[in-house]
Amino acid sequence: MKKITALIASSTMALSLVGCSSGKQYTGEAFGHDKENPVKVTLTIKDKTITKVEVDASHETNGIGSKAADAMPDQIVAANSVEIDGVSGATQTSNAIKEAATQALEKAGLKPSDLVSKNGAETKAEDIEETADVVIVGAGGAGMTAAIEATDAGKKVIIVESQSMVGGNSVRSTGGMNAAKTPYQDENTFEESAGVEKTLGTAASKYADNADITALAQTVKAQWDAYQANPVGYFDSVELMELDTMIGGTGRNNIELVKALAENSADAIEWLSTIGADVKNVGAFGGASVKRIHRPVNEDGKVTAVGAYIVPILEKNLQDRNVEIIFNTTANEILMEDGKAAGIKGEGKDGNTVTIHADSVVLTTGGFGANAEMVEKYKPELKGFTSTNADGAQGQGIDMATAVGAATVDMDQIQIHPTVHLDKDDNAHLITEGLRGDGAILVNAEGKRFYDEVSTRDKVSAAEIEQTGQYAWLIIDQAMVDKSSVIAGYITSGYTETGSTYEELAKAIGVDEATFAQTMETWNQAVANKSDPEFGRTSFANPLNTAPYYAIKVTPGVHHTMGGVVINASAEVQSEEGQTIPGLFAAGEVTGGVHGSNRLGGNAVADFTVFGRIAGKSAAAYTK
Ligand code: FUM
Repeated sequence: MKKITALIASSTMALSLVGCSSGKQYTGEAFGHDKENPVKVTLTIKDKTITKVEVDASHETNGIGSKAADAMPDQIVAANSVEIDGVSGATQTSNAIKEAATQALEKAGLKPSDLVSKNGAETKAEDIEETADVVIVGAGGAGMTAAIEATDAGKKVIIVESQSMVGGNSVRSTGGMNAAKTPYQDENTFEESAGVEKTLGTAASKYADNADITALAQTVKAQWDAYQANPVGYFDSVELMELDTMIGGTGRNNIELVKALAENSADAIEWLSTIGADVKNVGAFGGASVKRIHRPVNEDGKVTAVGAYIVPILEKNLQDRNVEIIFNTTANEILMEDGKAAGIKGEGKDGNTVTIHADSVVLTTGGFGANAEMVEKYKPELKGFTSTNADGAQGQGIDMATAVGAATVDMDQIQIHPTVHLDKDDNAHLITEGLRGDGAILVNAEGKRFYDEVSTRDKVSAAEIEQTGQYAWLIIDQAMVDKSSVIAGYITSGYTETGSTYEELAKAIGVDEATFAQTMETWNQAVANKSDPEFGRTSFANPLNTAPYYAIKVTPGVHHTMGGVVINASAEVQSEEGQTIPGLFAAGEVTGGVHGSNRLGGNAVADFTVFGRIAGKSAAAYTK
């Protein structure tokens, strides 16, 4: 499986090098704080040994990151491994350096496991045995959120993390967080009438036999009629978010969990603010009837990647609360006493045993999108698909939970994201759906649009797979670039082709010039008319008529595993017999049921924040 290199933030100023100089040199790059100038790592490698590491992070501006640039080259050479601990407080820098080093290693034709660890066999680390009120497995968004809530409830929390850094898949999340009926939505002018009408039409025509969807549609219809009679503020409601989420998941979702997600979403945005994370810029995303995705902006007012923004803030909050995180330790067993979860056992990277005794266990290990074998087992047709997932998304939490009797649901529901870019080395990069929400279109190899670009991911991906070559070009213009630091990063990473006219861009991407120019003129007219007779798109943003123009070649890739451990709305894990397993909680992508057959963009961050908070509070309340 190809690896994704996400645009992760990093922050360092130094150029650091360490080691002796024999061997061949290989360079990798990953983005940090400065989205226009990547951190570069050059490894000198001889006989599967890293002999020298050079880190160029000279464009980074945040001082704390220079600690990572100073410390990590030594650590890499000393361990002969790129799987080293990051530097505390400099997560983003450390992640960027590790990503770039891993990429350099791949260019040398090596996997991290091909290197002989100098820390390894002879020097087995000490076994660890500790006690906490709450042990959390996984330091991604859900785990860190749960840890903050449990600590704030006065409990001692220990987190065990399989990787050497916090963040998991959450740090790769680009789009934003869905939340219904927030004050930040009211700062927008309401223009999405057609989106609401279309959703109500879909509920009536396709889901008349689904009682949950029908009931939600009736409520939303009444709210919509009332709003039209007296249009104050921006139209959205908790029930419309529930309806969108249910229709997005083709009605397969667990309605109890969907309600918990939507009802707590606006409060979760406010909670994020209280811990220092503002996500208040509102945009459109696939499958949402209205503008509902909440995003951070940088100091220039440009929209920026949500995961790279939130994860360091969560980490800082853990540090402020002195929460212990044990890295490089893969939990593999839930300890049970008298039918209740009582802690976990795991293995450190040097083979040492880690045992944490606790009253409550919270699983936040993420999904299994990086585990190609597991993906193929549950959905054989996805064999060989690229993936957007972080290495840690291996599904280990699901194995641990089922070993103590937990039920799973929807394991074969695996989401394909339609806009993944493969670079010249075949590394996969997620191109955020936010671009389409903000006005981008998709055209095929014939230079024509082929689907409503802001439909749900399952549908857009399926349409893309039917096109010549199973790929598409995502088209944006300079006006979009000017508003987004994320797009600026795509350009400097070399993902884009450019043209100063539609014809020039068509030539650059090898599609028929006249056809492409006609496609663009037709689309711009659709934006002007706020009507898309060809494909029924209902969110338009602005015409794509500010030169120069850009195209990114995209293809579908594995993105989210909707299936997982069954929980209830209190994040308590449920057994095969439908009973709560005392002391065992779960949140985030390790769980199933929230998203049904297809997760909406923006609902992953909502999921990890809302259910991470619930799991943290429930786990704390359960302790003696
Ligand atoms: O396309 C994206 O930015 C992905 C967002 C998400 O999966 O929620």
